[in-house]
Amino acid sequence: MRLSVIGCGYLGAVHAAAMASIGHEVVGIDVDTHKIDALSRGEAPFFEPGLQQILTEGITSGRLRFSTDTADAAGATVHFIGVGTPQQAGGYGADLTYVDAAVSALLPHLRSGDIVAGKSTVPVGTAARLAELVAPTGATLVWNPEFLREGWAVQDTIDPDRLVAGVPAGERGEHAAGILREVYHPAVAKGTPFIVTDYATAELVKVAANAFLATKISFINAMAEIAEVTGADVTQLADAIGHDARIGRRFLGAGIGFGGGCLPKDIRAFAARAEELGRGESVNFLREVDAINLRRRERAVQLVVDGLGGTVYGKRIAVLGAAFKPHSDDVRDSPALDAAVRLHGLGADVVVTDPQAIENARRFHPQLTYIAERDEALRDAHAVLVVTEWDEYRRELDASHVSSLTSGRVVVDGRNCLDAVAWRAAGWTYYGMGRP
Ligand code: UDX
Repeated sequence: MRLSVIGCGYLGAVHAAAMASIGHEVVGIDVDTHKIDALSRGEAPFFEPGLQQILTEGITSGRLRFSTDTADAAGATVHFIGVGTPQQAGGYGADLTYVDAAVSALLPHLRSGDIVAGKSTVPVGTAARLAELVAPTGATLVWNPEFLREGWAVQDTIDPDRLVAGVPAGERGEHAAGILREVYHPAVAKGTPFIVTDYATAELVKVAANAFLATKISFINAMAEIAEVTGADVTQLADAIGHDARIGRRFLGAGIGFGGGCLPKDIRAFAARAEELGRGESVNFLREVDAINLRRRERAVQLVVDGLGGTVYGKRIAVLGAAFKPHSDDVRDSPALDAAVRLHGLGADVVVTDPQAIENARRFHPQLTYIAERDEALRDAHAVLVVTEWDEYRRELDASHVSSLTSGRVVVDGRNCLDAVAWRAAGWTYYGMGRP
């Protein structure tokens, strides 16, 4: 099938390459010339396992191409909208400028019978509004939210755990859902749940899923706060409640909390939209979820301060991790970098290392020192702060080896990912998050 993908950021670039990899003919479109030039040369614009390979294969096969001209979308059967919906500059709501611009630019190129499939995360009500804009062209708007996780984006796109299509009522909607089934044929063939619903439900599924995940993380981090004043161990608590199948252990990782380009902005936009709808109280708890999450960043910094006897001024601190999570070079709203910046602000000599995210981190926070090589970053440090659980900072990090590099023996485990017993045995003062 011929497809266009408008917006070639995280979502769009992966979607375009993944759709080509399952046999479609795809054009990816973005207004950013640098991005399109890089993608056209087959260069992945960010670190995402597996993306480079499907990008190269798609371009070599001739099924995948990129353009800055929306007119090149003409002739495609399905046009995916995958542009960003960042937090508004002056508020908590989502900024829909890019979604509106993408749909407006597409309108002159739509044919009757085309499908416009929105994938961006939008406030509920957006699809109904956009459907009115699309209607005069004879094309049909569907809302097809994306649930990909960074670090697993290729796999999540090709083999998602569910597909959701918000469609208009009647035959028109059924036809559109049928076309989407064809688009996602490998997943549909293997029996992946395919939920056909209305616009509002489809939009809400996405924000509800992210709100639930954020709540789960903040719930366990709230328990960490209680553990901290009672001497309990939140990791054992999470293991124990996680055995209850109704609760489940995943996303009960207490630590420095969630960040990234989705969860923080999505829960804020959801709360803002609920307020507009006169139902602010229904999701008021999301403000608490946000507040708990942000408190954990302060807590990690405080543990470093406490560990160094009350001040970090003039002390060298090795911060292991800059990305908001492992297997990603994304530093958007990264708790890791936030902690590093706060320590720098307290007068510490902060050295940040990360296997993938240094370039992005430097762009946002040039005031910090970055050293790519882990052991060099650890050299002469008075304290070590682990904030992104890359394998090289957990499993592959041997406490005795680190002792041979650093001048101090204070480690703060911001992700509860180290073996506390082994570190203490090697002579370290170990601080976890919500652990004695
Ligand atoms: C999230 C959703 O998972 C995904 O479905 C949606 O499409 C986009 O937003 P992503 O931002 O890639 O995906 O990251 P995710 O794996 O959800 O992690 C988010 C943050 O939560 C990270 O900073 C991670 O370190 C943190 N986290 C995750 C915890 O602090 N504890 C946990 O137990 C799990």
